[in-house]
This record gives sequence, structure tokens and C-alpha cells, in this order.
Amino acid sequence: MNTVRVAMPVSRKPTSASPPRSPARSVQEILAGDANPPPPILQLDSPRDMGQEDVSLDRYYSKAWHDLEVKTVWQKVWQMACRVEDIPNVGDTEVYDIVHDSLIIVRTGTGTADIRAYVNSCLHRGTILRTEGGNVRHLKCPVHGITWGLDGKLAGLPCTWDFPQVDRENFCLPEAKVGLWGGFVFINFDMNCEPLTSYLECLPEHFKAFDLESRYKAVHGGKVLPCNWKLAQEAFMEGFHIATTHPQSVEYTADTNTQYDVFDGRHVSRFIMAEGVASPALGNYPQQKIVDAIQRDIGFYAKGDITVGPGETAREKIADHARARYSKSSGKDFSKLSTSEAVDLIQYLLFPNLSPWGGMASPLVYRFRPNGDNPEECIMEIMLLFSKNDDGSHPPVGKATIVGVNDSWHKVPGMGSAADVTDQDTDNLKRIQRGIRASKKPGATMSVYQESRIRHFHQTLEAYMAAS
Ligand code: FES
Ligand SMILES: [Fe+2]
Repeated sequence: MNTVRVAMPVSRKPTSASPPRSPARSVQEILAGDANPPPPILQLDSPRDMGQEDVSLDRYYSKAWHDLEVKTVWQKVWQMACRVEDIPNVGDTEVYDIVHDSLIIVRTGTGTADIRAYVNSCLHRGTILRTEGGNVRHLKCPVHGITWGLDGKLAGLPCTWDFPQVDRENFCLPEAKVGLWGGFVFINFDMNCEPLTSYLECLPEHFKAFDLESRYKAVHGGKVLPCNWKLAQEAFMEGFHIATTHPQSVEYTADTNTQYDVFDGRHVSRFIMAEGVASPALGNYPQQKIVDAIQRDIGFYAKGDITVGPGETAREKIADHARARYSKSSGKDFSKLSTSEAVDLIQYLLFPNLSPWGGMASPLVYRFRPNGDNPEECIMEIMLLFSKNDDGSHPPVGKATIVGVNDSWHKVPGMGSAADVTDQDTDNLKRIQRGIRASKKPGATMSVYQESRIRHFHQTLEAYMAAS
């Protein structure tokens, strides 16, 4: 019996009213002035009033909440286990751990969909079969040597004479469901789950503009964070914190007028954060100062020697710089790429824990998971997806480097300037988790618009938990 009571989301159903919006220039107004106009998908503005009620705090530390989450969310949802390019050859494996569960993701054949996910536990006495990825011809338990083929069927049983009770035909490794989208391998423990295609809702339609299948994972880093996985994820879902936590960024980031979209359905939301324009708090900030600041902070623009002439804007100048660099590094013509795709931060969330980014400026993917069964620790991962060559080939795939709780993101090879900003967020998370435990107030008083994606996420979470 669990003791967690999860309110049905009915009382907090979105209303038809629009949430409040910043009086500053909207993202859509900024995009409407761009020299290279945005694709239709970025012209969508989908504000959603998700209500004003406090969000309870026990969800960030309670073991009972965590246990119910495991049962009703992690056992029920589609979750990204790895990239297709992590397992290109027959026999390649990856291990995907979530809470106390573990799966071996295996490429079993040369067909695109020849990928299966086996429960990573020996059917003899339960040993974890694999602790890491790698290429294998079969799955052999390191303790007594019982072996399964890549098809999951029993292939070798030492001392067969001593297991008269074992039906060799049916002594197969249990499986989870597998689905593919965007070059990601998804798994679902619930064999009766809804198909991945419907679970993804509008995501495939949106990502037609930002084809993730044509990219490969160049960098993969992770870090243990001293906070609940939801708290870490939320830290990257809004721009409200930028002025205080990343004060350097306000010179070139439109923070409080970021656009937050909640789309029809339960699983997908987005923000669009305009770059190359200053925070509304800075008023009519000089265009050259915007460019100088972004060259100071973001390695991609560094030493660009960009100057803004009369009648020019910082936003278009950095977009020109970005388009030229994309063209040079890829050998393709990016001169027509929209200004927004060239420079803006376009971040999606697929419930519960995957954040693929759109556009070219930040080819990021975030994933957040509980660290084992501890509700007050999580693992945040950042992946960088770069374009493959036209023939589908690509440089070596970035192998996961998970750094410790006290390490800087700089320890992850290839993180570049993203490490500075993310380290600033990490310091906050420690304090928030600590403060939540100290709080005598039962809920977080979130903003209505800027934190509408977070409210949407929690309402979906609650709906899953209430459906148990
Ligand atoms: S525990 Fe796996 S073969 Fe014995
Ligand atoms: Fe941040």
C-alpha cells in the first residue's frame, strides 16, 4: 500500500483563458522581423493556462512518492534508452538502468528495427548479465555461465542434468517493448502500452524541420546531481532564472519574454528563447554590446570580430556568422537557414524526461533520471548531436562519461562553453533540494506563464500517478 495521495488533475484543468504574457516584445514579434523567416513550426505560439495552484513539495523527496512514481510512471512510459548509432553492429549492446530496473539493449540483426531490450537479470539466480555496453555473440552470465542467444533464447545451460525443471524452449530472457524515433531507441516496460507513435504526439511533426535521424551523438556526458530528477529537469525548462543565475547571459538573451508552448496532449511542451537580443530589463541595449557579450561568452561566436553597422542588428549579424560557420563545417549551403534556427534556443520536453532541442544553435539532448532508488539524487545527461555526412557516415560516437556530484561539467570531454552555464545551474540545485526539506510551506508558488511548462509536466505526472 502506498501512502501518497495524488490529487486528480481535474481541479487544475487548463482553462481556455490565456495566461499572462510579458509586456515586452514577444518571440513571435522578434521572429517576424528576421531576415530569414522561421519555418511554420516556429511560428506557432501555444500558450496554455495551467492554473495557479501551488505544486506540492513532497514529490521532490518522499520515498513513498518515488515508489509510486516508479510503479505508475517509470513502469508505464516510453523512455529513451540509447541512440541507434550506439549499437550499429549485430551483437552491439547498451545497458539502460532506470531506478532498480536494468535492460540490455541489443542489436539482433541488420534491419533498422532489429533491436530488442532484455531484462538484465540472469534467470538462474538473478545476476546482472551486463554492466556496460559492448559487442557480444551471446549473453553469458559471469557466475555459472548460463547463456542466451541474441534472440533471447536459452543457448547454453551448464549441468543440464541438474535442471530437469527447466523448459529449455521457454527459458527466454524477458523483454521490454522497443520503439524508434529520431535516431533514438525507446523502451517501455509495459507490454500493453500505447504505441510510441501516438505517445510522441506532435513531436515527429515538429522535428520534420530538425531531422534528428540525420545526426549522430558526438558528445555524451552526465553528472550525478544532489536533487530529485524533476527538480533538475525543471531548472532547464524556463528562462525566468537567467537574470539572477546567469547574469552574463542577459546581454544577448531575451529571458523574461521567452515563449512557452504547451501543445495538445499530455507529453510535449517547448520553449523558444530568442538570442542576439538583450533582456527586456536592459531596455534599448546597444547592438554592438550584444555582439561583444555573446562573443565573450559563447565559444561558437568567439573571435568572430563581428561588428554591427548602421541599420544592422546584432541578431542578424550573429545569424550570418552562424550560417557561415555551419556552411563551412558541413560543406552544405546554410545561407537560407532561418535566423531563428540559426541562433535561438528551441527546447522541447517529451514526458517524462527527454529534452531534444530543435534548430542548429544548440544541438542538445537532455535526459534526467533518478539515481537508483534515491529520490534526492539524479543523473542528468547532456548529449550533443552533430550532422552526419551525406552518406550517413560519421566520426566516432561519443561514449558516455558520467562525472561525480562534486565534479565540474568541464570534466566531460567536448562540453565546451555549455559547461560554464550548467555548472551555475548545478550550484542552485543543491540549494533548492536542501531548502525544500527546510520549508514549512507545503507547495511551490510557481509563475503562471513562465513556469507553465513545469505545471503541465506536473499535471501529466499526477494524471499518470492517479491512474494507478
Ligand atoms: S547466477 Fe547466472 S548463471 Fe548462475
Ligand atoms: Fe540555467
